[in-house]
Amino acid sequence: MDAKVYDLINDQINKELYSAYLYLAIADYYADAGLDGYANFYTIQAQEERDHALIFRKYLLENDEMPALKAIDAPDKEFHDFMEPLKAAYEHEQYVTGLIDNIYKVASEAHDYRACQFLQWFIDEQMEEEDTARDMITKMELFGEDRHSLYELDVKLQARAYSTPAKLAE
Ligand code: FEO
Repeated sequence: MDAKVYDLINDQINKELYSAYLYLAIADYYADAGLDGYANFYTIQAQEERDHALIFRKYLLENDEMPALKAIDAPDKEFHDFMEPLKAAYEHEQYVTGLIDNIYKVASEAHDYRACQFLQWFIDEQMEEEDTARDMITKMELFGEDRHSLYELDVKLQARAYSTPAKLAE
């Protein structure tokens, strides 16, 4: 594997685990605020990010490359109202999209078509993640001020359930 592609994929394991940490911090904020549905939603989001890290790890191992696990930064954001975590999540997903796009670019330049094909799943996933993050902001803008509506939203988010992505199970 091209050394630059390896380094970026290996780093992405760490970035995805940091994403899991960030979503756990967001889940903690909502749990503390009594919004258990939001807490559930972001706890599952953290599980998905851990899965993303595992998918990158699996890719390296299946290509005879050894992952080099690094220290994970602590999440450093503080939240002061129900909207701030949602905006932080959206900004973070845009940042991750940039990281994935960059790996794709470097893999293309290295003519690593296997990596490009592998990364396509993440390119699609980032479109969904950004869309979901924007939707969470829109719903809070629309209904966040009305306590009854916020309660209904929270109940709805409580229904989100975790499932292992097929890409990890395959
Ligand atoms: Fe792993 Fe939310 O991107």
